[in-house]
Amino acid sequence: MATPHIGAEPGDFAPDVLMPGDPRRAQRIAETVLTDARLVTEVRGILGYTGTFDGRPVSVLASGMGIPSISIYATELFRFYGVERIIRIGTAGGMAPHLEVGDVVIAHAAHTDSSIVGNKIPQIHFSAAATFSLTAAAAEAAGISPGKPARAAPPSDAAGTRRRRRKNGRVYVGAVLSSDVFYANRPEVNEALVAHGTLAVEMEAAGLYAVAAQEGKQALAICTISDLLFREASLSAAERELLFDRSVALGLAAFANA
Ligand code: HPA
Repeated sequence: MATPHIGAEPGDFAPDVLMPGDPRRAQRIAETVLTDARLVTEVRGILGYTGTFDGRPVSVLASGMGIPSISIYATELFRFYGVERIIRIGTAGGMAPHLEVGDVVIAHAAHTDSSIVGNKIPQIHFSAAATFSLTAAAAEAAGISPGKPARAAPPSDAAGTRRRRRKNGRVYVGAVLSSDVFYANRPEVNEALVAHGTLAVEMEAAGLYAVAAQEGKQALAICTISDLLFREASLSAAERELLFDRSVALGLAAFANA
């Protein structure tokens, strides 16, 4: 039985799902990272695949953009397809001044202006938080451990030169803003968020965390910094895909070790 937005049969999805925003990224992960991946849904062009990685079943399904979209797909996966853990693999705009394009943010918490998350429980400001075990496993895969500053060079850097490490970016654990508005013009809000330690802005993590909490399941978002809010910076398409692959590797390590 398919759901309104997913055309797969029960059992078509693995318990662990990677979730990029872009359907073409889902296809690319399936074709280049997973083994024996097969297409399990393509409703509305939101492509989903199931294969294996290191012998473990893993699925990948695109989320589309924004909290309403990711909430639909996450709810249907958790509620109707037996999915237990979703890791969003996305991009984010760097807010904190020390972030550079290519850095990675493991989002342990997600502030939001979304009313469907913020007003989830009447009279309560809902705290959208990632699952600890997934967060800890992703951080450990990036070489971050308690007692050390919450940032590190990603794992593929271990034997690299300083220049390579700078080019490859660093990994941080911290809070993001999950905004409902991409073209927002509110510098004072952004400044206050940065003053309160917020690292980056994206548009889905808080929705994913709220759905996981509601369904009693697990979730995490790992975001590659693709642009900077307060400075000019850019990545070529090839660089962006390379950096994106490293977030995928952290997500797969989190699934294997959490
Ligand atoms: N804003 C919101 N979402 C984003 C951004 C941004 O600047 N960059 C990548 N995702």
